[in-house]
This record gives sequence, structure tokens and C-alpha cells, in this order.
Amino acid sequence: MINVLFVCLGNICRSPMAEGLFKKLVADKGLNNQISTDSAGTASYHLGHQPDKRMVSTAAGHGIKLNHMARQFSKADFNEFDYIVVMDESNYNNVMKLIPTKSNAKVIYMRSYDDYVLGVKEVPDPYYGTMEDFQTCYYILESCCRNFLKEIIESIGINNTSSNS
Ligand code: 4NP
Repeated sequence: MINVLFVCLGNICRSPMAEGLFKKLVADKGLNNQISTDSAGTASYHLGHQPDKRMVSTAAGHGIKLNHMARQFSKADFNEFDYIVVMDESNYNNVMKLIPTKSNAKVIYMRSYDDYVLGVKEVPDPYYGTMEDFQTCYYILESCCRNFLKEIIESIGINNTSSNS
């Protein structure tokens, strides 16, 4: 089993969207029993909250139902996850502050999988933005999630039988 964790600040906008999107891509490939996906936030502002309504409606517009309760990233996550995928530099720094001396988890930037905007590190935070910013966020995440899943499949030689996406 490959365990993937998406991390943002509040765990109500970017990372639950990435989680929902990635879960759908994984399910479409028939890989539910080989890849598990979760999300977390580095801050505790929204613990237990459902994703932001604006992200829920953006996701719904793309046929994705978000179902996650916000939780805070913790040191224990380094033992649970193979990939910890962060949205921006502050997420990266907050995650790295907690990294144990020995950890096999790969901490990576989501946008390292974006093939359109090379050199851009961050998935912009839409929280204080417009509905258009939420839509842009979705498209960035979709492109990154597709490339990320492709890389996982190639790196571990998963035999994906279904290929409708
Ligand atoms: P997220 O967005 O990190 O993508 O979930 C935010 C959500 C809440 C806040 C900031 C960013 N906040 O300041 O409450």
C-alpha cells in the first residue's frame, strides 16, 4: 500500500480538494486497494470542520464530492505516509520542523508535478480570493494530481488494469 498525504494550512481548501481529486483518479484507475489518500493542515484553526463551501461547490462542478474533516498534521504522520505533498513554502517549513531524525517519507511540493508552470513552487491559497481563484486552484491541482499519480504508477510498476482517465 502506498500512503499519500496532502498538506496545506487550514485543511479546508487546497488539501481536501487534492485529496478528493486524487482519490477519484485512483478509483478511476482501479487502484483503491493499492493507494490510500488523506489530507491535513499545519494549523489548528479549522479542526473538525468540513471543507470550505466554495471548494465543495467547485469540486461538485467537476463531479467530485469532498468528504473530509479537517485535522492537524503531526509528527506521527511521518510514520504513516510515504508521500507528504505540500502546497506552499510555509507548509513545507512547518512540516520540516517536525521531521524525525529518521524518516522514509518523501516531502514534496505539489507543483513539482505541474507541467505547465515550471519553476512555480506554490499552489496559491484561494481562501481570501474569488470563486475564480477556487477554479484556478482546482485546475492546478488536477494537472498536478494526474502527473503525480502517473509517477507513482511508473515508479512502483503498479499494474493498472482500468484506464478511463
Ligand atoms: P487552505 O486555505 O490552507 O488551502 O485550507 C486556508 C484556509 C483557512 C485559512 C487560511 C488558508 N485561515 O486563515 O483560516
